[in-house]
Amino acid sequence: MSAKIPRLAAAQASADIVAALREYGAVIVEGVIAADLRARFNAEIEPILEQVSPKRRYLNPAVDLFYGDRVRQITGVAARSRVFGEEILCHPFYADLCDAILGPSCSSYQLNVAQVMDRGPGAEQQFLHRDEDVWVHLPRPHPEVQLASVIALVDFSADIGATVVAPGSHRWARERHPTPDELACAEMPAGSAVVYLGSTIHAGGRNSTADRWRRGMHMSFVVGWLRTEDNNYLSTPPQVARTLPRRSQELLGYAAHDAIEVGGGYLGTVDLLNPIDLLAQGKL
Ligand SMILES: [Fe+2]
Repeated sequence: MSAKIPRLAAAQASADIVAALREYGAVIVEGVIAADLRARFNAEIEPILEQVSPKRRYLNPAVDLFYGDRVRQITGVAARSRVFGEEILCHPFYADLCDAILGPSCSSYQLNVAQVMDRGPGAEQQFLHRDEDVWVHLPRPHPEVQLASVIALVDFSADIGATVVAPGSHRWARERHPTPDELACAEMPAGSAVVYLGSTIHAGGRNSTADRWRRGMHMSFVVGWLRTEDNNYLSTPPQVARTLPRRSQELLGYAAHDAIEVGGGYLGTVDLLNPIDLLAQGKL
């Protein structure tokens, strides 16, 4: 793994981060989640993780194989963590990136999935993949529809399975596979994020340690007109969503996608109204 992923600091201009992302398809950004925020989030999810078995079943055997039986997962994080729902979901760091990458292709973007992935000792490397391939019916080529990231909730090193990325692969032909020297390992201190495009080849790395867990959170956003991986309305139902900030409600998909101004229409209405207004009025 001799390829390099550009490395920037969260305090740098978002235009620089976006430029690196466009050029390499992935960027490591240090200092995205402040130490205090990370500590509070970790404290909140710790007791949840203790209740999670890595030997769970998934949707089908292919998904069982992809995640393996050494990974503790928490999905629907907005409904299970106030710190996430109130502070991380609507974290300003992501706004500029999503505006730049997804903004031109939608009227508003939304959360696709937030998923704590605590990869335990013995977890094998995932197969290399592009996250956007879940939308296999989307004709190609197409503009970027997804901005993804893995937030390091502990220090990410190669031995505990830091994310493996093929920089530049967002521009490759579909059938091209990376050689070992075209891969890079996203080693980074806790609180950093490796941000990548939906079209960038990557994988969760192999955890070769005997007793350390690689706790990270996959967090991705998509254009507001695309079906999301996590069913956010059911994972964070109205009775929970109404207690969250309005911006978080919007990102969870409670706001209608309004493309009227550009000659489109509304998506996601309830009784032909905007559900985020109904939520505010106590009608949902
Ligand atoms: Fe992935």
